[in-house]
Amino acid sequence: GTGATSAGRGDGGPAPRRAAIAARTLRTDRWWLQPLLTVVALVAFVAYSSFRAFQNAHYFSEPYISPFYSPCLTTGCEGDTFPELFTGPSWISPAIYILVVPLGFRLTCYYYRKAYYRSFWLSPPACAVAEPHRRYTGETRLPLLGQNAHRYFFYLGLLFNVVLTYDAVLAFRDETGAWGHMGLGTLVLLANAALLWLYSLSCHSCRHVVGGRLNSFSRHPLRYRAWTLVSRLNGRHMQFAWISLFGVALADLYVLLLATGTIADPRFF
Ligand code: FES
Repeated sequence: GTGATSAGRGDGGPAPRRAAIAARTLRTDRWWLQPLLTVVALVAFVAYSSFRAFQNAHYFSEPYISPFYSPCLTTGCEGDTFPELFTGPSWISPAIYILVVPLGFRLTCYYYRKAYYRSFWLSPPACAVAEPHRRYTGETRLPLLGQNAHRYFFYLGLLFNVVLTYDAVLAFRDETGAWGHMGLGTLVLLANAALLWLYSLSCHSCRHVVGGRLNSFSRHPLRYRAWTLVSRLNGRHMQFAWISLFGVALADLYVLLLATGTIADPRFF
């Protein structure tokens, strides 16, 4: 195109230099498949995790606690893996008090932002596919301005990782509190904690915290080495985001099945 004609736009906003193509996209592959799968997976996770968070039951089976309910802060908690800090009304699930941290962390995550901007907002749905919106303001206004809070959710998420690792360590005790126990549930909680650490350590904010704003790497050899490691993990952040999301749901499901007596925990020691 030679000028700012609106005819060539797929209504994706001002794009004076875009070629005058009337079609929304010239892509002939199944570009819609990835956003569709993203919607299906995220909706499934949100539905399952909401159901479980509000259920307020079957989240503890000695010595395992579901990651959705940890840290369990109220006196109404099943089991006692974490110091109970306050008494809340018993109809409020202990999961509700802590939900904001993992939810805020994932919602403001750079990868998930890309995923849901594309799949839910269609902004744009895929590369070289025009978006339906006429205006584009990026993340410069509320509420999207709040995405800047990601680094703080990152720090809070680290605290949660410590707690969930602690839960996995406690799962090496048996029902009587004696050490030296190991069941499948112990491995499930360990794997879940490890995946959450990988998700956090591969975070873009983590990479910035570790190696950002340094003018000279040679004067900070330790941070340079840490930054190199985090950068390598960072390249797989999307994979860690998905695996840890499924991991946390499966860990919860495992505890649910134990707590309801549906299955028994295979025991190795
Ligand atoms: Fe995804 Fe920070 S960028 S968790």
